[in-house]
Amino acid sequence: MRVHYNYLGDQFASFNEYLPDLQALVASGEFTLGPYVDKFEKKFADYIGVKHVISTNNGTDALILSLKAVNTKPGDEVITVANTFIATAGAIVAVGAKPVFVDCDNRFSIAVNQIENAITPKTKAIIPVHWAGCPADICGVLSIANKHNIPVIEDACPAVGAQVNGQFVGSFGKVNAFSMHPLKPLNVMGDGGMIATNDDEIANWLKLYRNHGLSDRNHVTLWGVNARLQPFQAVIGTKLIDQMESLIQIRNQFARQLDKGLADLPQFVSIPERPAEMREVYQLYLITVKKRNELVVYLNQVGIEAKIHYPIPLHLQNAATQFGYKKGDFPIAEQQANDILTLPNHQYLTSAHIDYMIDQIHTFYKRDS
Ligand SMILES: Cc1ncc(COP(=O)(O)O)c(C=O)c1O
Repeated sequence: MRVHYNYLGDQFASFNEYLPDLQALVASGEFTLGPYVDKFEKKFADYIGVKHVISTNNGTDALILSLKAVNTKPGDEVITVANTFIATAGAIVAVGAKPVFVDCDNRFSIAVNQIENAITPKTKAIIPVHWAGCPADICGVLSIANKHNIPVIEDACPAVGAQVNGQFVGSFGKVNAFSMHPLKPLNVMGDGGMIATNDDEIANWLKLYRNHGLSDRNHVTLWGVNARLQPFQAVIGTKLIDQMESLIQIRNQFARQLDKGLADLPQFVSIPERPAEMREVYQLYLITVKKRNELVVYLNQVGIEAKIHYPIPLHLQNAATQFGYKKGDFPIAEQQANDILTLPNHQYLTSAHIDYMIDQIHTFYKRDS
């Protein structure tokens, strides 16, 4: 049996269903912003319950623009978590600020009890990451941030649809970023991103900034960039929002099956806590395991596309040398980097695929013990 990690071939096998909407787009000639982008933004804002959505050409730009929207400048510091995709820290560096890392908790998210120690007079923002579709303790982050009057930017790039107490992530912070990269829960046929905010002034600034600062064809209000979402991707995204709830349900069902099937291996497999108030969307199904590297090789050999996200935490990446971090600074993130394992979990698998993964993991540890 093969258990694929990448499901895009299955997802877009029936491309014909997108054709009528794409033909309408082509007939309209509305290829930069325009009604298809407006429609997508409105639909996504309604889905997650925010006042404004400003789409961008990818999630990294959504983060960069969010940082700029809270006035992050060269020399500022921005607090974030040590295990995330490089783009979280890359966006901070792109606006000239310094990423200040904090260790992880046992759910692979920012350790809230360590944020306060990282705050200095230079701290401009805090970016919790809803890593791999698993909500960070956003209420804990907000209570510290509010106490110090520091804006929170949620990196909800991998987490469209995740919730805390029934509220969508990406609707808690002052200005929040999402990605529609092909392997994110809400994906398009290429790159795409969104920024969500309830702040009217920030929304107006973002709409101008992402489009050269143009208030109309002939008037430039401020210096901006071109960070526009392609209308083609807006058409795809608009259609896919309708499928979010069913895909989240399927992924949660498979995650429960995996959690249950692996629960009798506590000496080898640690399943993160799943607090009842948090709805995950499982961009990735993450656990930590003993003999991780050998297990990945074994699973790949038996047809299961297991992966590692990520083997090197951000503070130990070569690019981060300039910030002076060293091995041992964030022991939990470093331990997780050694032990973390990603198993495929998506809506194009079946319960038989999940059972196969559970069986193969049992076989590996039986063989090895
Ligand atoms: C946590 C996180 N932040 C930022 C990004 C950047 O998104 P994009 O690839 O759309 O630029 C990603 C995904 O790639 C991500 O997982």
